[in-house]
Amino acid sequence: MLAYFNGAYLPVEEIHISPDDRGFLFADGIYDVIRVYNGQLYRLDDHLSRLSYGARQLRLAWDDFSFLAEVARRLLVENALTGAATVYLQITRGRAPRQHAFPQPPPPLTIYAVARPLDEKPLREKRERGIAAITVSDNRWTRCDIKTTALTANVMAKQEAAERGADEAIFIRDGALLEGSHTNIMAVVDGELRTAPLSNYILPGITRRVVLELCRELAITVREMPVFQNEIPKLSELMALSTTLEVVPVVKLDGQAVAEGVPGAITRRLGQTLRQSIERLCR
Ligand code: PDD
Repeated sequence: MLAYFNGAYLPVEEIHISPDDRGFLFADGIYDVIRVYNGQLYRLDDHLSRLSYGARQLRLAWDDFSFLAEVARRLLVENALTGAATVYLQITRGRAPRQHAFPQPPPPLTIYAVARPLDEKPLREKRERGIAAITVSDNRWTRCDIKTTALTANVMAKQEAAERGADEAIFIRDGALLEGSHTNIMAVVDGELRTAPLSNYILPGITRRVVLELCRELAITVREMPVFQNEIPKLSELMALSTTLEVVPVVKLDGQAVAEGVPGAITRRLGQTLRQSIERLCR
């Protein structure tokens, strides 16, 4: 597997990152995950803009990552990835002796990218059957709009889900169901499709954005307002959205069936419409 590291293309095993890297010391960096269908990068520009947004928020030394489009394409070619894959990108503030404030002068950023084949079978099964989720209290910082590599709270939440026999953990802050450990969420309550509005409390998910666009085309009205904890018993559908999962029905929450405990009609329709739009773009 050939990966990209600071300007060079190398076998992953030959890449060595310094223990003084601020990504290692402070999780002082950002990342993104891009989905590849039929060897084609899906919504690449959206992912690169999100990286640039993160870089500006963290005041990294530069924020023009347009060259990563070429890097991502080359990784697919070099590794002969012509089917389903993901490209992972990570950028850190670089290498410097440990002190909290930004090193001066700024060292070169550390830039890493890797493309890996993706096994679609388990994902397809989740989309068809649905998954179980749990709710957890949101103990993350309040800049969840930045896709930083500081994911300890997400890791702990997802692990708790796994230990309780579930696939996803949904963060609740002040009674509001905001997003999952690695997904955005949408729900149907009282016949209305709802999702938390963009704010510093959620990641501006690209799948969320695409699904909102599709809802406009399908004339499905969406209220950008979170579902609240006291509305859980009223949920008629719940779904988790992400680059790798696409639209996955959540059929069980905290051990209780969501409505009938089977994938809902709106969830299925959105999942199918998303698939069709992807297939049109990435033939
Ligand atoms: N996760 N919310 C969080 C906290 C996420 O980590 C992700 C993505 C999403 C969905 O965003 P998108 O639709 O742009 O993938 C929402 C990635 C895939 C990950 O960490 O692996």
